[in-house]
This record gives sequence, structure tokens and C-alpha cells, in this order.
Amino acid sequence: MNIFRDSKKRLALIKKQKDAFLKIAQQSKTPLYLFDKTEIQKNLKTFKNAFRNEGIDINVFYAVKSNYYHGLLKTVVKEGENLDVSSQRELKLALKAGAKQIIYTGPAKTKEDFELILKHHEKINVNLESLRELRLLAEMAEKKKVIMRCGVRIYTRMQNGWTKFGIPMEELATFFREAQKYKSIHFCGIHFHISFNKNPEKYIKTLEMLSEYLQKNFTQTEREEFEYLDIGGGFYPQQWQAIYSWNEDQESAIPEERDYIKEILEDKFLSRTLTVLSQPIEIFAQEISRVLQKKIKNVLPNVSFYAEPGRYISHSCMHFLLNLVDIKTPHIGITDGGNNMVGWELFQFYYYAPIFNLSQFDEEREIPFITYGSLCTPDDIWGYYLYTKKQPKEGDILLIPYQGAYTYTLAQQFIKDVPPVYDL
Ligand SMILES: Cc1ncc(COP(=O)(O)O)c(C=O)c1O
Repeated sequence: MNIFRDSKKRLALIKKQKDAFLKIAQQSKTPLYLFDKTEIQKNLKTFKNAFRNEGIDINVFYAVKSNYYHGLLKTVVKEGENLDVSSQRELKLALKAGAKQIIYTGPAKTKEDFELILKHHEKINVNLESLRELRLLAEMAEKKKVIMRCGVRIYTRMQNGWTKFGIPMEELATFFREAQKYKSIHFCGIHFHISFNKNPEKYIKTLEMLSEYLQKNFTQTEREEFEYLDIGGGFYPQQWQAIYSWNEDQESAIPEERDYIKEILEDKFLSRTLTVLSQPIEIFAQEISRVLQKKIKNVLPNVSFYAEPGRYISHSCMHFLLNLVDIKTPHIGITDGGNNMVGWELFQFYYYAPIFNLSQFDEEREIPFITYGSLCTPDDIWGYYLYTKKQPKEGDILLIPYQGAYTYTLAQQFIKDVPPVYDL
């Protein structure tokens, strides 16, 4: 348990709320997502303060794709922050939540996307991803007599594998000069993004390359035109997740001859899990801010700094509340909720997350126990270990806490409905 950041604090919170969770399970039908808005408030504050302590005021545009729950979006807006969207659907959700400022990013934007964007142009910055997008938007905006605030997404060798997005950094000057020609386009931003960063290296290298490129290819007057630099999301939090030691490479197809389940149940693995090593946000902020102060502020003197954290903000805001419906053997049980609540195979192969038996709470004793979901497929596994005081029983209530990022958003109506969310 001590492998996770804030384990003690988080565990203490579960203990404090345990009886309330059991009551919710009795009164409302499980399975449920439990939504805790205080986690969003806390994560926003930690993120902002980490940068503020380094002298950088960062404008947060929370990435809706990591969890689009309305209560979450409303919380972000109430906290005075903004939203980052990638589709018409997400834009509508952001507007419904009352967002005052929105970034619209995402490849291959269509005429229909731009129609909705132009309708709400006062609130939106568009991060363009191609010359086609620029030309189409310029033409549409001109017809509507609207001036659209835009930036462009760039990639460097640090965004390796993400080249379907944006333009190569080397084409930024050409893009800028074409954008300058359109009266309907107020071109003033630069954006880059890559996910799953466990340390700040990629941000730093991108910023260093960008600084050098801008100095070589832009005049001082041109550089003064830029109003925002958007460093995207991708800040990997110190999440309540680990990797299974029997699946270090996070393979999703285990050879049939390998009976790993038998080995787990016999507790053959000395170390059951491996820590996901990710640096604290304070280190990200320290290192990124250092480059912004030293290499960007002098080159882009008029920019505000934007970031689009998704996972970092939403990772701890949802818990899953499940009922252990059937006990099949002393080491196998099936809950009412299924993996359609989180997408596919998340906890079967990719990540371990602690599961607590709230009806028989014990924070020390974790037994090998396979918790299946109730979908009509064997590929529906919540986990292979269970924290429980004694042998689990039918009707016990289980909690998988702090799993808010890319779970609810990836949920799918596979066999069963996506369960409701309960606001704590
Ligand atoms: C443009 C953009 N911004 C922000 C994010 C959010 O990333 P994360 O949830 O890793 O912070 C993504 C995720 O893919 C993205 O594509």
C-alpha cells in the first residue's frame, strides 16, 4: 500500500467514509461510480500551486476527454478554471458546464466543427492542426464576419508517434506567415502535447527546441505577436495503480500455456506488483518553469502559459462501488459491475488497483482473490487481490477507489448499461 503517493492520507479518507459508502450501497442500487469533487479541487490547487511556487502562473484548461462527468466539469469551472475539448460533443458539454474559456484541439476538424466553434467564438481558442483547417476556418469566419483566435499545434521529435497531430515545428514560420494574411484569423498561439509523461524531460526538450527555432526563424516583431503557449497535458500523476509483476510489459495476450492465475492464487509471485515510477508534479513544475523563465519568456515576451492536464486532475475523483454477488470458490467472486465501467481490460492486464472489501474492512490483509465483473465474457476482471479481514462473502460491498481518469470516459454499453454516478 505504501507504494502510492499520499497512500496514508487516501487510506484515511476511505476509512473515514467507509460507513457512508456502505450506506450508499444499501440505499442506492450498485454498481455505482462515486464522484468526489473535493479531489478535483485538491488536484487543481496542487497543479496550479506547483507552478505558482516557481513564479509561473499557468492557465488550466482541463482536458474533458479524461472524464467528462458534468459534476466534474462544473467543479472545474466553479474553481475559475477552463476546459479543453476535442469534439462538438465535448464542446457542448463544456458550454453546458458554463465554461468561460475553452480550447478546441483535435485533428481533422470539419466544417460542422467550425460552424459550432464560430457560433461560440468569443469563448474559444482553436488550436489548428493543418493548413487545410486554417484555410477553411479563415473562409468560414470571414463569411460570418468573425475574427477567430487561433494557435497551431506543432510536433518535434519529442512527440514521436504523435505525428498525425499538428504540423512539424519546422513549418511553423510558413504557417504563421500564411495565417497573418487572413483578416478573420487572429493567430497568436503555439501548442504541443504528448501523453503519459512520467518526468518533465519531453516538455523541457520541446521548449528548448522551440526557443531555438523561434529565434532563428522569426523576427522580434513577429514573436511579439504570440499571446499564448499551450504545453498540453500528459502530466502522469502518482496514481493508485501499479503494474502486475507477472506482466511487467503490460501484455494484453498472455500465452495460453502460462497459467498465471494459478500462480497468483498460489501466491507464487514474491513481489505482487511493481510501482509505476512517476515524478511528483512539483518536479515537473520546477523543471518546466525553469525553461519557461530562461528560454521562452525572452523569446515570446507576450505569452500567457496554458496547460491542458486531464489525467492529473481527474485521476482520483471517482471510486467504483460494487456488490460481490456470487462466490464461485474461496478465491473467485463475481461483482454486479463489469469492466464496461472502465473500457476494456484495464485491470485485467494493464494495471493493478487496490480493491477493498468495505463490509470486512482491513487495510493490511490482502489475499489473492479474483474479482470478476458480471459481463458474459471471461475477460472481465477487476483484479487478482483483495483487501479483506476474513473470507469474502456474497453480498459484501467492494470499493475500488481513486480511479477517475479514462475510466468513466471509456465506459461502454457492452452487454450492460453504464451505471450512474453518485455525487458524494
Ligand atoms: C491535446 C490534448 N490535450 C490534453 C490531453 C490530456 O492528456 P492527459 O490526460 O494525459 O493529461 C490530451 C490527451 O490525449 C490531448 O490529446
